[in-house]
Amino acid sequence: VTPLGVELARRIERDGPLPVAEYMQRCLLDPQHGYYRTQTAIGAAGDFITAPEISQMFGELIGLWAAQVWMTMGSPARVRLVELGPGRGTLMADALRATAKVAPEFHAAIDLHLVEANPRLRERQAEALAAARPHWHDAFDSVPDGPAVVIANEFFDALPVRQIVRIGGEWRERVVDHAKGRFVFAAGTAASAPRAPLADAPDGSVVETSPAGEAVAAAISTRLARTGGAALIIDYGPGAPGVGDTLQAVRAHRKVDPLAEPGLADLTAHVDFAGLARAGRGAGAEAYGPLPQGTLLHRLGIAARAATLLRNATPQQARDVDAGVRRLIEPDEMGTLFKALALAHPDLPVPPGFDAPMSNRQ
Ligand SMILES: C[S@@+](CC[C@H](N)C(=O)[O-])C[C@H]1O[C@@H](n2cnc3c(N)ncnc32)[C@H](O)[C@@H]1O
Repeated sequence: VTPLGVELARRIERDGPLPVAEYMQRCLLDPQHGYYRTQTAIGAAGDFITAPEISQMFGELIGLWAAQVWMTMGSPARVRLVELGPGRGTLMADALRATAKVAPEFHAAIDLHLVEANPRLRERQAEALAAARPHWHDAFDSVPDGPAVVIANEFFDALPVRQIVRIGGEWRERVVDHAKGRFVFAAGTAASAPRAPLADAPDGSVVETSPAGEAVAAAISTRLARTGGAALIIDYGPGAPGVGDTLQAVRAHRKVDPLAEPGLADLTAHVDFAGLARAGRGAGAEAYGPLPQGTLLHRLGIAARAATLLRNATPQQARDVDAGVRRLIEPDEMGTLFKALALAHPDLPVPPGFDAPMSNRQ
């Protein structure tokens, strides 16, 4: 039993079962015991590995994406480069190294802002990004106004999801209860039906939404619509909304029971890209995608970048470059499950690598 488990069991005994979103929120962000307050679990030796930790090309290409967007914004003299959930700072370090070389004017305009909940990861970011003198924030809302390019890789999957479940034809809130010394899922109070066509899902179906994710997408989009710029959101999830319980827990690269060790395992859920796009459009931005990660990286020139790296590589480095490309773009690796969504000021051209939104096509 984890310390957070003890607290949650007491809380459930006193006040009743916890909605799934609240359980997830406590497990990840409880001020004392939350996974993202205490663990620095990214990387080969940690709980999970992410795209920037697989290959430097990922961050480099995103840096150049940001530089191209900045040019379409009219190359403002100062631009907020904002990263949500920067982890160990690897993506941003690779991005900044690339922009310093290839886009020095953009590089000189950057004012770096990092949104990070984890004090230990903030220390890692401070080491990795010292030269860029970043500013840290607890939430996007405190990033100062002004033209912005926003990046978020595997940030939205860490935000709490709400689940509803259909039982006997009725939709009910899915909750976490505590019985006989164990946490268990249960059906709570009545909930309103999900959007069509999911409202007709059969009994037993679980439907997820992320009010927290939609609120962040809306906050970013309001800002972009007001002061200009674009955001690139990369994460894993389906291209279209569907039913299913995607809450999962990972510890030491293994899937574990999400209810077994509250606070010690990373909890995530698939990102509802359609929901983020809807929230973004509702707040005045244009939304592009989602596009498979493999397609985006291919269009941003990963093959050419790999070829350049291979020119001066040792045999071991060459194997790493090839393996990195494969893992990032192949459909049976990260290439298809991971997707990219862009949100942008409606007057900006289509962001690099994306297609025009359906509504604008001739
Ligand atoms: C899965 S990691 C991804 C890290 C990094 N982007 C990468 O690709 O390696 C999630 C990141 O988001 C941060 N994070 C999670 N929830 C957060 C929240 N609600 N507010 C701010 N940061 C959060 C974590 O501390 C971590 O830096």
